[in-house]
Amino acid sequence: MKYVIGVDLGTSAVKLLLVNQKGEVAHEVSKSYPLIQEKTGYSEQDPEQWVTQTTAGIKELIDTFDGDANDIEGMSFSGQMHGLVLLDGQNQVLRNAILWNDTRTTKQCEEIYEKVGKDRFISITKNMALEGFTLPKILWVKENEPELFEKAATFVLPKDYLRYRITDQLQMEYSDAAGTSLLDISAREWSKEICDSLDLDPSICPPLVNSHDNVGTITSDFADQTGLSEATNVFAGGADNACGAIGSGILSEGKTFCSIGTSGVVLSYEPTGDKDFEGKVHYFNHSAPGAYYTMGVTLSAGHSLNWFKDTFAADEDFDSLLKEVDTVPVGSNGLLFTPYLVGERTPHADATIRASFIGMDSSHRRKDFARAVLEGITFSLNESIDLFRKSGKTIDTIYSIGGGAKNKEWLQMQADIFNANIVKLTSEQGPGMGAAMLAAFGSGWFETLEACADAFLSEAEMYQPIQENVERYEKLFTTYKKVYEQTTEINQDLMEFRN
Ligand code: XUL
Repeated sequence: MKYVIGVDLGTSAVKLLLVNQKGEVAHEVSKSYPLIQEKTGYSEQDPEQWVTQTTAGIKELIDTFDGDANDIEGMSFSGQMHGLVLLDGQNQVLRNAILWNDTRTTKQCEEIYEKVGKDRFISITKNMALEGFTLPKILWVKENEPELFEKAATFVLPKDYLRYRITDQLQMEYSDAAGTSLLDISAREWSKEICDSLDLDPSICPPLVNSHDNVGTITSDFADQTGLSEATNVFAGGADNACGAIGSGILSEGKTFCSIGTSGVVLSYEPTGDKDFEGKVHYFNHSAPGAYYTMGVTLSAGHSLNWFKDTFAADEDFDSLLKEVDTVPVGSNGLLFTPYLVGERTPHADATIRASFIGMDSSHRRKDFARAVLEGITFSLNESIDLFRKSGKTIDTIYSIGGGAKNKEWLQMQADIFNANIVKLTSEQGPGMGAAMLAAFGSGWFETLEACADAFLSEAEMYQPIQENVERYEKLFTTYKKVYEQTTEINQDLMEFRN
């Protein structure tokens, strides 16, 4: 039996999957690393931690594998998107990586529109200039750390840096390059026009490769440190959302997934890159050859639930926190939560907005709050589904992946709030499986990614909307949508009190 490794470099941990030719996960290891949040709106990580933890994780995977490491033919990557890793001329890291959920760059986003022109910028990148994307982070460093920026020769994204350390080859692949705000999405090339308008040397942009491209083998050092064979082939990999799409079979028109990890994403397949969504939803290159996808992002999805648990139930696990949620009726007894803990992306690109509990009553208990948090996260994702439906897409079936697919109540809630059938896969591994599938396809195990998906993925359960709940939630969703407008100014006023 042959194997591949899928490396999922997430925001809180790296997850490593050893997958065999039938698509079965033979072994799985996860290693965490911290977020560095020095100020409100800041979110950084030390790239060295990604390398150390991935190396330790692969070593553990190989140590516990009872087969032959020579049978592991290839590896590929899924990575948290948008994070800026700045490198000098010797490819040394110049500062901590600034991550996708860092929102310090509102001023730089405005500067991008001023200098490139908003319509022109959106027509090239197909997306708005958002704080989380990479280009405004580059401009922030240029403006705030000019001496350090002087030394910058190139930049990469998190999993591209990790791959560089494993192969000694530096590239970026299209699905992640799409999230930098420097790529001409339809033409699949770096935009010289955007670089010139912002006085950036285009040589800062690294060479581009496809997600399934074989970029070489691992270095002898990495082989020594992990126990992998030096002949292990490395395939470029993709953005975590693109890999999540592959890992849940979103490979043809009409297919949609909802992923609830730290962030929450609703993503839908697009066959071409020439449509115009006016930047209202994200529109990126897929990791499947030649394809694209649209998506809406809730910045704090799983993060909201983690925050709630860490703050109010630190000694308990999620099962115990959520165990009574099914005893609370639809609408959490009048308690409403908006998940804007770190600002929001879709449909409100707003770095200043913050979360709310509205309607607290002395009868409310912790279980009401827990249900309200789940409902608020799901309402926020429903705003993206609403946008997709308004743009003419039919969304009647949604594949649910990530933390949101682990809890039955939450799956039913998704069916009721999205008013769609929710499908859960048998072995749901999301982005890590997508990365393993890119390695399997790149290794020539299958003619196409679709054939790989047919062999590796199967549906386990379907949750159907319950009409009575759909109607209750439709009503509450209208109220939910008012909270953003009505708390915008209050949150702007509160800004000066944040640390
Ligand atoms: C997508 C985004 C997040 C990260 C999470 O635009 O910012 O989903 O990719 O890792």
